[in-house]
Amino acid sequence: MTQFGPTRRTMIAGALAGSGLLARDPSARAAPGGPARIESVRATYGAAVRGDALANDPAYAQALAERCRLIVPEGSLKWPVIRPNRDTFDFADADRIAAFASRLGIGLRGHTLAWYGAMPAWTDAITSRAEAERVLTQHIERVVSRYAGLITSWDVVNEAVPDDPAAAGDLRPFVWSNTLGADYIPIAFRAAAAADPAARLVLNEYDLEYVGARFESRRAALLRIARRLVESGVPLHAIGLQAHLFADRRIDRDGLQAFLREIRAMNLDVLVTELDVIDASLPGDVETRDRRVAETARTFLAAVHEVVPPSAILTWGISDRYTWVPTYFTRSDGLPNRPLPLDASMRPKPLMAVLEDFTRSAA
Ligand code: G3I
Repeated sequence: MTQFGPTRRTMIAGALAGSGLLARDPSARAAPGGPARIESVRATYGAAVRGDALANDPAYAQALAERCRLIVPEGSLKWPVIRPNRDTFDFADADRIAAFASRLGIGLRGHTLAWYGAMPAWTDAITSRAEAERVLTQHIERVVSRYAGLITSWDVVNEAVPDDPAAAGDLRPFVWSNTLGADYIPIAFRAAAAADPAARLVLNEYDLEYVGARFESRRAALLRIARRLVESGVPLHAIGLQAHLFADRRIDRDGLQAFLREIRAMNLDVLVTELDVIDASLPGDVETRDRRVAETARTFLAAVHEVVPPSAILTWGISDRYTWVPTYFTRSDGLPNRPLPLDASMRPKPLMAVLEDFTRSAA
């Protein structure tokens, strides 16, 4: 990973000025102080990025440029965007994000190649095994090879495990599991590795960190899937913990750490891929709420870090100005959610200080 010093600020100024995204001269920003960091154990800090906001909101682009060493498109690489129909590949949105990362020397992750949550309607017509394998493999080859060398880490399979595997089994039903069964996972990983042998390939999952039977059974199901892949020589390199954290749920430190030890025993890396804190049930008072959000993230990150320092920690967005959280977790008092490290005016919140304790940001 590139080391970013004062030259980076010059690069940001140049790149943003060239793209018309510069709000003000970033070199005017005070250099952050604080004690020297032990760089080697810190994760790379990054955030998910929205293509439309990046194109239209200079303050957002600047915040990303100043703070992130790594970015991941929040939606621009998903099937409905890239494959509006069977015969079209539309990379315009993803290419803009890739160009931004490239200009600034920021690392890029890819999200995601096989996910039930966002599939275009035309894929409903895929019912045979042969067709499914062909469409999935061709998609992955085309997308991964386009960004080979630029996207260095991919969420190949996202959310393979159903909400409650004790009731539904280990495999979530959707087009690829319905047609290919559990084989869709090794097929996807092998296709990604063939398209870019240097890329780090990740199995990404949510709801792994809490106390309760459902979460225990989700951890066990993911371990079974990962173990099967590793034992059959499938190129799986890391587990992604999404970490959409709920401030009102209790983190199962022992359960999470036992799970992470199993991951380590398989020689897999760990990344935190989508961290944010769902604050719908927290008090309205902003100071209290921001403190509780930060504490929730610290409890989780400390538990992970004790077993395995993650190679990267990404938040799912950088500013409360752009977050998926209100789509599902609107507050009953009508106040805006505050799940991310910068507030809606791009000012750092206590969550950012927590992240700075665990990561190397670009700032
Ligand atoms: O692009 C249109 C925009 O033009 C329109 O104005 C707007 C009106 O609602 O909709 C926009 O698209 C929405 C897009 O988010 C905006 O970024 C889509 O309808 C909406 O479905 C999409 O939701 C995304 C969701 O995944 C489904 O793809 C969320 O932003 C994104 O945060 C969320 O991310 C998921 C991860 O991929 C997997 N893990 C969970 C995480 C949160 O749900």
